[in-house]
Amino acid sequence: MRLFVALEIPAAVRDNLTALIRELDNLSSQGAGKPPRWVRPENLHVTLKFIGETADGTLDAIRGALAGIRVNKPIDIRCQGLGFFPDDRRPQVLWAGMQASANLPLLAEDVDRALENVGVAREKRPFTPHLTLARFDAPRLTENLRDAITAAATRDFGSFQARQFHLIESRTKPSGAEYTTLHSFAFRAEA
Ligand code: 2AM
Repeated sequence: MRLFVALEIPAAVRDNLTALIRELDNLSSQGAGKPPRWVRPENLHVTLKFIGETADGTLDAIRGALAGIRVNKPIDIRCQGLGFFPDDRRPQVLWAGMQASANLPLLAEDVDRALENVGVAREKRPFTPHLTLARFDAPRLTENLRDAITAAATRDFGSFQARQFHLIESRTKPSGAEYTTLHSFAFRAEA
């Protein structure tokens, strides 16, 4: 099974991001070339850690490791702005950015460390909190799509407090990725 750990976003933020995706999709379907692959609204999430392919037998150990994580306070998150991975000259991923309280990178670090104890390789790249909105097969943007993204580059998509994180299974279907939340972990302060 293919697993990852993520924060979910509230409906208001999802609706704002969905509105943007619709605007941009309308433009990209008018242009030449291969349109971006937009993330379906129900699939929008903040990845804390990609686990990848895992034997079914390790699921309990993964769940146990995640259950041991303590988070003292809700995480404050403001979703704002747009950007590209790896950069805007070679756009492969379009993302919405976020400003978050310091306990967000700490949680990502705790998840990474907890999962290392059950055999999941540590993340080598620095944690960059984001919401993936689209993936580009050819790292090429039509001019009108680039202009629309530039016009929305600082748009505010809303704020929220995260109070739990989730272990999610990803299945690849012909219609695209389908995510199933296997377990939710409410933040719990040190006993
Ligand atoms: P991202 O889109 O938030 O950047 C579930 O598949 C999530 O795990 C994806 O949304 C992606 O995060 C991340 N992911 C998928 N494949 C990955 C890989 N090979 N390495 C790192 N992260 C990956």
